[in-house]
Amino acid sequence: MSLESLSQEQRIYPPHPALAQHAAIPSMAAYTSLCQQAREQPEQFWEECAINLLHWKKPFTQVLDESQAPHYRWFADGYLNASYNCLDRHVEAGNGARTAIIFEGDDGLVREYSYSALLREVCQLANALKRRGLQKGDRVIIYMPMSVQGVVAMQACARLGLTHSVVFGGFSAKSLQERIVDTGAVAVITGDEQVRGGKVMAIKEVVDEALAMGGCEAVRSIIVYQRTGGKVPMQAGRDITWGQALRGQPSTCEPVWVEAEHPLFILYTSGSTGKPKGLVHSTGGYLLWAQQTMHWSFDLDPVAKPHDVFWCTADIGWVTGHSYVAYGPLAAGGTQLIFEGIPTYPHAGRFWQMVERHRVTVLYTAPTAIRALIKFNSAEPATHPRQYDLSSLRILGSVGEPINPEAWVWYYEQVGGSRCPVIDTFWQTETGGHIICPLPGATPLVPGSCTLPLPGVQMAVVDETGAEVPHGTGGNLVMTRPHPAMARTIWGDAERYQKTYFPPDLRGAYLAGDAAVRAAKTGYFTIMGRVDDVVNVSGHRMGTMEIESALVAHPDVAEAAVVSRPDDVTGEAIVAFITLKNTRPVDPTATTATAEVLRNWVSKEIGAIAKPKDIRFGDNLPKTRSGKIMRRLLRQLARGEAITQDVSTLDNPAVLDQLKA
Ligand code: WT7
Repeated sequence: MSLESLSQEQRIYPPHPALAQHAAIPSMAAYTSLCQQAREQPEQFWEECAINLLHWKKPFTQVLDESQAPHYRWFADGYLNASYNCLDRHVEAGNGARTAIIFEGDDGLVREYSYSALLREVCQLANALKRRGLQKGDRVIIYMPMSVQGVVAMQACARLGLTHSVVFGGFSAKSLQERIVDTGAVAVITGDEQVRGGKVMAIKEVVDEALAMGGCEAVRSIIVYQRTGGKVPMQAGRDITWGQALRGQPSTCEPVWVEAEHPLFILYTSGSTGKPKGLVHSTGGYLLWAQQTMHWSFDLDPVAKPHDVFWCTADIGWVTGHSYVAYGPLAAGGTQLIFEGIPTYPHAGRFWQMVERHRVTVLYTAPTAIRALIKFNSAEPATHPRQYDLSSLRILGSVGEPINPEAWVWYYEQVGGSRCPVIDTFWQTETGGHIICPLPGATPLVPGSCTLPLPGVQMAVVDETGAEVPHGTGGNLVMTRPHPAMARTIWGDAERYQKTYFPPDLRGAYLAGDAAVRAAKTGYFTIMGRVDDVVNVSGHRMGTMEIESALVAHPDVAEAAVVSRPDDVTGEAIVAFITLKNTRPVDPTATTATAEVLRNWVSKEIGAIAKPKDIRFGDNLPKTRSGKIMRRLLRQLARGEAITQDVSTLDNPAVLDQLKA
């Protein structure tokens, strides 16, 4: 999005006052006063939040410990358990019969789990894990299909103080192996196969492949949830089915009370190098915010509004699935829908049909899905949201990437019937939960803007010296005060954490890695995208270096450079520029065939989400005199833009024509 288009006067959508009723933050005045409280007396503010929202086995006496900054510690001497807070306390309060999860399979079959039923299964799995010798602090990899059992696995780990690391089911054996090695995991919880869009795909086999790559010798147990019952290889003594593991296990299990700073999970995300970062999240600060944002951003309150059905469409393999499937909705005691499949199967009206069928009230999805559906739904009028009864909806959420104003307005009008605010939530794997987003019923909305920081979050747009820039001027997005939900470190690499997120010039602020601009009058934030070598395809974050490393690992590739270009549906698309060791393919058939080989290679190395959309071959890549690849030039080539770079120093200017193709 260009600065010019931002500075144009944008339409403001007034808030929906009906939503303000019973809302946790019902007005801008209430919002401002909370922000002020948080700014003036942060310790008191956070202490109140933590005490009001969470059950502490042993209360904390200190709110914030800055002595090891930027590794801030929150509520450090308090003890709690995340699984107890998500399950037991609701059952103990007499709400065990309340529906926790409605699961709809790819095939349309529905299963419901009450809080009591969910707790029983979590306890049984926890007992099975205990029986297999797992202890507080051990790491467990979860590599599962989108399922209730995936959530059960996370909760069971949390119950025992095991630190889980969920790996998205679309990642390759190699990516999985790297994460097993990096975490030093002692167990893997997986499935036999996964089903999406009518297709059955292997999972257990991928785990076996990962283990065969070596370095995973610490893995002693593998538990296999039988999603399809398909025949998969099982190694005696190491592998056991979910059913067998749970058989005979008691349905109660005393939670292991952990210190607030105990690592609840490690989640890998891409950065500027070839190696993904394992971000470590705490138990107390993280859970507090996952729940707090359910109340603030999505107005979830099962007491005042018992009919809410919350649906976050994200997979548990991403941070959105952690905070807004596995932890937030359960901590808040809400009812949520979990969907196994994809938005276009068996037809592109599937989402709307599901909203109608389950009377969904809060729908939280990604701009990519919305943009894809705009296309499909207009090509096939029978699948259009207007064909369905969506009157149950009261709030719409957006996440993962900037939402373009056109998609915003379509979502608002066609899906929400102009009755539901679009809550555009800006946040990151690193922040654990929402940091900038509107409040339903209170914040006037501007399409394409995530509006203002939540109370307790202090954000600014700054220049290279850390000084705030005037509104209307673009700059680096930073967080200027510590926040309880921030990732504490990078697993095994505290130095990288400090270097990446707290560069010395920024006066101790956290660097988000995005550029942003604030609107002149409102101070609203608009996110302009990453400033580092991170691309965002369909809301999934990937490092260009990671894809480059994967490409050059192919025996035929001499050199590779990866950039992105804007894409109508996926937000950004990956474009790879490649020099082969042998001669460059010239005729279209050879070019297409070689490109396909490399695409499949990337899919094997990282996962299908990292496949370049466009691959171009040159005799060499354009470089500066000092030998650096001219990335800005490549970006212009990828986008088909005019070249503004000085190319007079290129040894071989003819290569530009090759790479334009
Ligand atoms: C990056 C974080 C947030 C959970 C899923 C992605 C981009 C995320 C928005 C938004 C504009 C957004 C940013 C951010 N991003 N949400 N509402 N508007 N950009 O988490 O994989 O850690 O990626 O996604 O570039 O830095 P993630």
